[in-house]
Amino acid sequence: MSTSVIILAAGKGTRMRSSLPKVLQPLAGRPLLGHVIETAKKLNAKNIITIFGHGGNLVQQAFAQENVQWVEQAEQLGTGHAVKVTLPVLPTDGVSLILSGDVPCISQDTLEKLLAVSRETGIGLVTLTLADATGYGRIVRENNKIQAIVEHKDASDAQRQIKEINTGIYCVSNAKLHQWLPKLSNNNAQGEYYLTDIVAMAIADGLEVSSVEPERAFEVEGVNDRIQLAALEREFQAYQAKLLMQQGVHIIDPSRFDLRGKLTVGQDVRIDINVIIEGNCELGDNVEIGAGCVIKNSKIASGTKVQPYSIFDNAVVGEDTQIGPFARLRPGAKLANEVHIGNFVEVKNSTIGLGSKANHFTYLGDAEVGAGSNIGAGTITCNYDGANKFKTIIGDSAFIGSNSSLVAPVSIGNGATVGAGSVITRDVAENSLAFERSKQVAKENYQRPQKLKK
Ligand code: UD1
Ligand code: CA
Repeated sequence: MSTSVIILAAGKGTRMRSSLPKVLQPLAGRPLLGHVIETAKKLNAKNIITIFGHGGNLVQQAFAQENVQWVEQAEQLGTGHAVKVTLPVLPTDGVSLILSGDVPCISQDTLEKLLAVSRETGIGLVTLTLADATGYGRIVRENNKIQAIVEHKDASDAQRQIKEINTGIYCVSNAKLHQWLPKLSNNNAQGEYYLTDIVAMAIADGLEVSSVEPERAFEVEGVNDRIQLAALEREFQAYQAKLLMQQGVHIIDPSRFDLRGKLTVGQDVRIDINVIIEGNCELGDNVEIGAGCVIKNSKIASGTKVQPYSIFDNAVVGEDTQIGPFARLRPGAKLANEVHIGNFVEVKNSTIGLGSKANHFTYLGDAEVGAGSNIGAGTITCNYDGANKFKTIIGDSAFIGSNSSLVAPVSIGNGATVGAGSVITRDVAENSLAFERSKQVAKENYQRPQKLKK
């Protein structure tokens, strides 16, 4: 039996007080709706139908790469109306999982459990028992069997005592949706077409309504304002940190850890506080990441130690290297094993060979550095002439004296030495010494200027 996924995402999200539609607000670096689409894809759904309304173009553009079917709900007349607008494109067989674009953390596990119990009965809900159920639709049961969902605003005092709530996540037979949705009325406290009314319709048709609880409560938490968004971010991060710790990562303080993407780890990785990891990253065995580092789409091989406040963006780092503190590896930085990149060193689109070192205040851009070379403090590869970029090639075992400018295109041969303070504009041959500076002037018995008498 085929599964469709319907995602409700037409709401405006007024309480976010943002020009960005609510479902595009980021959780762990990805739009709320992106999390839901990602989970839907894992379920091998036949089709993913997203109902959009407010900020429609922006929402569609944000997911242009995804195989999503868009259905517009021009006027938001209620959750039942939202699903009703999908009927023209909804298959007549199979089942639909109905999700909310602003409930981003629903898990594949919970949805698979829901699918399993709903396939037998034709309709199922994800419910949750809360200490304070104020505002939510309540699950009305008789002899433990679900009879209806009553919205808070429509509920009697007795019904408001019910602690079991509707999370807004359902699995329903498509044939039944085609049958029930046209019959919804908006005769209720909010004058809206309530999707929740299909539960009473199912009971009237003699069906049983199944339910499951989520594995983790935060899975069904919705986001309406920035306070809830921040709270959910922390819950989601704590959960990700827990999964990594279960894999053996030593996260020194999980409450100060942020993963905005996917992290693959080896054994005995240690991550100090306030580290942000974005995109797809890989850390090998025994890698240590110091406090305050930001690592994006980068690979760091085993044994590498990163000192605090280093930034990686699309960098590939070899084994047993030493990076930072305050190093910046920009896109295209490729470091071989045992390289040292020290404080205030920036590397962009450059390869650095085995065991080479640039320990202090250096810019290496569009450079190729061989093995065993030493780049002195303050060396700059002048890769840009204001219009075009050029390469600097430094061989093996070269020694670049401090405060040198290497004006590209230029190459420094194997074993060559550049004297400190040089501006190198021509190639330096293997094993030679090149320096370029004015002669030192010496004035003996020099008198410094004296303060003028007033
Ligand atoms: C809904 C449920 C309630 C449940 C709660 C869980 C109904 C009638 N009530 O209430 O039982 O406890 O969710 O959070 O369904 N949306 C549209 N188009 C519309 C209306 C809503 O796309 O016309 C979308 C919203 O953007 C949102 C979702 O549907 O993503 C839920 O809508 P919302 O108005 O927040 O429903 P609640 O009143 O909270
Ligand atoms: Ca809501």
